[in-house]
Amino acid sequence: MSNTDPELNKIYYPSKEVIKKATVKDYDSLYKKSIENREEFWATEAKRLDWFKKWDKVLDDSDKPFYKWFTGGQINIIYNALDRHQKNATRNKLAIIWEGEPGDVRTFSYHGLNREVVKFSNVLRAMGAKKGEVITIYMPQVPELVIAMLACAKIGAVHSVVYGGYSVEALAERIEDAKSRILITADGGFRRGKATKLKTIADEAMKRSATIEVCITVKRTGEECYMENDRDFWYHDLMGMPLANTNCCTEKTNAEDPLFILYTSGTTGKPKGLVHTHGGYSVYTATTHRYVFDIKAEDRWWCAADPGWITGHSYIVYAPLINGATIMMYEGAPNHPYPNRWWSIIEKYGINILYTSPTAIRGLMRFGSSWADRHDLSSLRLLGSVGEPINPEAWKWYYEVIGKSRCPIMDTWWQTETGGFMITPIPTMPLKPGSATKPFFGNEMAIVDDHGVEVKAGEEGNLVIKNPWPGMARTILGDPDRYVEKYWEKYAKQGWYLAGDSARKDEDGYYWIIGRIDDVIKVSGYRLGSAEIESALVSHPMVTEAAAVALPDDLRGNIIHCTVTLRNGATGSPALAEELKTHVEKEIGPIARPAFVEFTEALPKTRSGKIMRRVIKARILGQDIGDISGLEE
Ligand code: WTA
Repeated sequence: MSNTDPELNKIYYPSKEVIKKATVKDYDSLYKKSIENREEFWATEAKRLDWFKKWDKVLDDSDKPFYKWFTGGQINIIYNALDRHQKNATRNKLAIIWEGEPGDVRTFSYHGLNREVVKFSNVLRAMGAKKGEVITIYMPQVPELVIAMLACAKIGAVHSVVYGGYSVEALAERIEDAKSRILITADGGFRRGKATKLKTIADEAMKRSATIEVCITVKRTGEECYMENDRDFWYHDLMGMPLANTNCCTEKTNAEDPLFILYTSGTTGKPKGLVHTHGGYSVYTATTHRYVFDIKAEDRWWCAADPGWITGHSYIVYAPLINGATIMMYEGAPNHPYPNRWWSIIEKYGINILYTSPTAIRGLMRFGSSWADRHDLSSLRLLGSVGEPINPEAWKWYYEVIGKSRCPIMDTWWQTETGGFMITPIPTMPLKPGSATKPFFGNEMAIVDDHGVEVKAGEEGNLVIKNPWPGMARTILGDPDRYVEKYWEKYAKQGWYLAGDSARKDEDGYYWIIGRIDDVIKVSGYRLGSAEIESALVSHPMVTEAAAVALPDDLRGNIIHCTVTLRNGATGSPALAEELKTHVEKEIGPIARPAFVEFTEALPKTRSGKIMRRVIKARILGQDIGDISGLEE
């Protein structure tokens, strides 16, 4: 929390210019109001959106913790993201500016984007897509990914986007859990100058999970693809048919109807499909985006994440469209072909707000400031950070070199489960590098011990959220018990949400996130589970047992270290370690590739047979192993 370099302990105050432009000048008074009458606060925000039918009740808490918001109301997020903009000047404004890694550019006005979405909605309907059915999307970062998501939502289908960097087993598992009948994919995408082979991975996944009947493939790289009769269709063929006409009405979904599921890693091997809804999610994402990034109609907004994660769902796609902003999307790697790619994009398109992860910042910082200094970054007004704690050194670099000490950094803490920002500054707030500052309006948090007693200022404890909020995930698909157990059981008596992070709160009420308290591993801001990596390892014929732990890393936040035991007393070798790393990569994806694989005779376990990852980690880091009374041997 405190640094040896006094420069890093400085408080950064907003400039007069920032304050002059800000929508909310005084955090404290609006915060107080939002807490004193939470439902009124959210009702006021909800009224900014267009509803087919107004809600009867803002918050229905009759079945805790299964909270419902805006019950009785009818709303479709697409009506707010697209339809209503067709009626005014926003129609002719750019909705998306997209740049491919090879340098190709495509743009869509709100009118043009809507047209594509309407056409693709008709394609999906022609393929028999029904309201409420889960459609899986597995694509690179191309505009069709956004079009596919929006088309699903428009017809009331539920999208399940699987990040394009995932591989066969991760995709197969998610298709199967959601019992998806329709898959939308692409031949591939470009990353670091190479074409990825998504359709090949999709083919393999479809062999493992038998539910897919229709697969629609977007042509991006032009790679040769296997196309199965009656199952595989080219996107452009379907979009060229008369069935892809421009008449399609937006489904009148209920506020609580599911909008999407998004899988995320938890403590067990099986990923959890978190369910988000049309009503509460629309209100929450649009409101957080508007206040935190002070979105103005003329803004060019760049959230440099991937739509395959919650950050992309909420802040590349939905919130900016609802708010009528112009969205920048870039397909490829930040340092391709050179480390100035991002800075050249900011200059070329006049980007006003950049929102990215600490890992990306640290990665670009490594190349030095001269790459950024060559570009005119004066269009930037605000910066943002998400996904992991930002170390003060990276914060300072981002602030000074990219933001030229003019642009406040919004360090937003939130989760797939929360739908939108939970702890975050607004532009007028004094900033402390490394702190996500204070709760967003309507939210009350605390740092508590295992019994729910609030710890003293500066002490570490469990981060809890004390109230429901509209953007919260409603359940885990097909497993409501797990939803209760994972998030609500620990503090059931108090009715608090357990975030799974440890944190501190300082004397000024600023929150400092430390990291996960469970077996979730954050690598480069990507969320993975120890159990997922372990189950990929034991699917290799040589491996009997495996333990994956996170080790701290200067660049990526954490890296993955695996300890494995081998079958029939086989001995490990550097070649086998490499093979196992590649195996994990092939099953889950490159993001899950372990940095280290070591071999051992036996893993430390409790008497009940649970692997003690904590002990392994302490040993590797040379730390005190702690209480090992539960250790079997
Ligand atoms: C971590 C990403 C520190 C945290 C939106 C959380 C952060 C997990 C921050 C959720 C931040 C996210 N500072 N840590 N600003 N933002 N995290 O579901 O551990 O991919 O629990 O959602 O990321 O990861 P998820």
